[in-house]
Amino acid sequence: MNLKLLTGVIVSTAFLLPGSASGQTADFNIVPQPLQADVTNDAPFILNGKTSIVVATSNNDLKRNATLLASYIEQTTGVRPTVGKQGKDATAIVLSIDKTISNAEGYKLDVDAKRISIAGASAAGVFYGIQTLRKSLPVVSGKASQVTIPCAHIVDAPRFSYRGTHLDVSRHFVSTDEIRQFIDILALHNINRFHWHLTDDQGWRIEIKKYPLLTEVGSKRTQTVIGHNTGKYDGKPYGGFYTQEDVKEVLAYAAERYVRVIPEIDVPGHSLAALVAYPDLACMKAPSAVGVGNKFYGEDENTLCVGKDATFEFMDKVLTEVAALFPDEYIHIGGDECFKGFWHKCPRCQARMKAENLKNENELQSYFIHRMESILKEKGKKLIGWDEIIDGGLAPDATVMSWRGMEGGIKSAKAGHHVIMTPTEHCYIDLWQGEPSVEPDTYSMCRLKDSYSFNPVPDSVPAEMILGGQGNLWAESVPTFRHAEYMTWPRGWALAEVLWTGPSKTDWDRFWPRVERHFVRADQAQINYARSMYNAIVTPYYTKDGVLEIKLDSEPGNLDIYYTFDNTDPDNFTPKYEAPLRIPKNATWLRIVTYRDNKPIGKVITLTIKELEKRADNTRHVVGNL
Ligand code: ACM
Ligand code: ZN
Repeated sequence: MNLKLLTGVIVSTAFLLPGSASGQTADFNIVPQPLQADVTNDAPFILNGKTSIVVATSNNDLKRNATLLASYIEQTTGVRPTVGKQGKDATAIVLSIDKTISNAEGYKLDVDAKRISIAGASAAGVFYGIQTLRKSLPVVSGKASQVTIPCAHIVDAPRFSYRGTHLDVSRHFVSTDEIRQFIDILALHNINRFHWHLTDDQGWRIEIKKYPLLTEVGSKRTQTVIGHNTGKYDGKPYGGFYTQEDVKEVLAYAAERYVRVIPEIDVPGHSLAALVAYPDLACMKAPSAVGVGNKFYGEDENTLCVGKDATFEFMDKVLTEVAALFPDEYIHIGGDECFKGFWHKCPRCQARMKAENLKNENELQSYFIHRMESILKEKGKKLIGWDEIIDGGLAPDATVMSWRGMEGGIKSAKAGHHVIMTPTEHCYIDLWQGEPSVEPDTYSMCRLKDSYSFNPVPDSVPAEMILGGQGNLWAESVPTFRHAEYMTWPRGWALAEVLWTGPSKTDWDRFWPRVERHFVRADQAQINYARSMYNAIVTPYYTKDGVLEIKLDSEPGNLDIYYTFDNTDPDNFTPKYEAPLRIPKNATWLRIVTYRDNKPIGKVITLTIKELEKRADNTRHVVGNL
């Protein structure tokens, strides 16, 4: 008894001193936050070169997970455990299946002095336990002599089964190496769906053997618009596509990380690149070149002709190859932003409407989507479409991806359809994530806090119909993979936590410190991310008396904000923001910077008084002359 107590004291002292002092102690304050994590001061687990990873059964998936775990530990700490039997007097991490865990992706992680046990309902559950351990590890530069992992009991399972991230590779191509890196980081955050937006007006990016021109012609454009709708072009030819072999490699990589890949072939709108390759699919006149900008709506023809039987033959053949390639039960057929004006003028589309007794072009789109669903069903697949597929009547078993707010999703869920919620205001990670004047060009705002406040299940909706949600990264203004990472993280972490831990468990004040810990992890892994949450939030408005005031704020609660009106650089010796500001006479600029602990942390923001007035005018317009 005494000995036990003594051992406990000695070990816990050892745990507190060398571990904490050297920074080589694990910490389960991670993203997403596990559902239940009890960390105690009992004797911790010591991970070192003698530690082995043991698989309790002859399950090959678990063996692969064990190898992944060994490499994750090595990447983060420099220590590589062996995979195999537990050595004498050595510690072990044991992976096993526990059929008593009810959620198929759930797991339990128990740490004591001798052993870390990760037991999952399935190999996927074990994988998520592994990700939790991976994220808890201290980031070590070089090689740790040992890592201390505190005694812990974690019981965890996801709130939603569909936890997605979308990537548009049409507007800007992303190589398969980069896609693999992306998938690895999705998996690190328990994201289990990768929605691959493979076709659009600006490029068709997947090889279809039956239609080689889709990639030979449709994957190339002569130049690209710079930024967002600037009207300026870079003059550089651009292209890229995935062969079917490339796709298979990505799929194998994703499957090993329990990420299901959902391909999107965006039709009947957003099809300009396909029309350039196969002009006969157009209603009247296919454009002669793949889209170089992002003004698509109603200008160049970009809609498949629904009057022609050839269109359905084309789609059948394309979807046959896509269905054979992608193992997932879902194929996304787009359906968004289809400009119906070409159909309105097209004699064949009009004849189809007459023959099928369709009242308007919305019903013609619905007719097209119904036929896509039949084609997919024949191939054993289910259809997902953007919420425009509701217009004109929803196909019987369609799953709706609601992006124009939540309304389409709510309506569809009530009508008995599965829904994936991706409303722009929370999930569009192509938007600004902070003060626009210091962000790359885009067109609207979705802050980290906006992503974190996402609730995919509004009241009044049958919760079981909402499969989950997804962050969407449209790439008109995302020219490089580094920038795709910048846009995705940390908002992707916020969405991952909402979707895994659940919106009822979110707590902003506890979340952002965990985001900061992840910044350190991302730095080590050389993953790009945005520090935009550190930039001041500038809200100009007019008082009732018509006076311009400026409210300054920040996302993390513990920043100090300093400003100047005298054209000098703000720092922690210039005025500190305490209450809304009024503009001194003759000032032309407001400059702002954030500090923490007397060190600058955010970017310097410089705004003209004219710009502040313009923003306040816009707000006045929106809120109705407050
Ligand atoms: C979309 O943003 N067009 C789905
Ligand atoms: Zn037509």
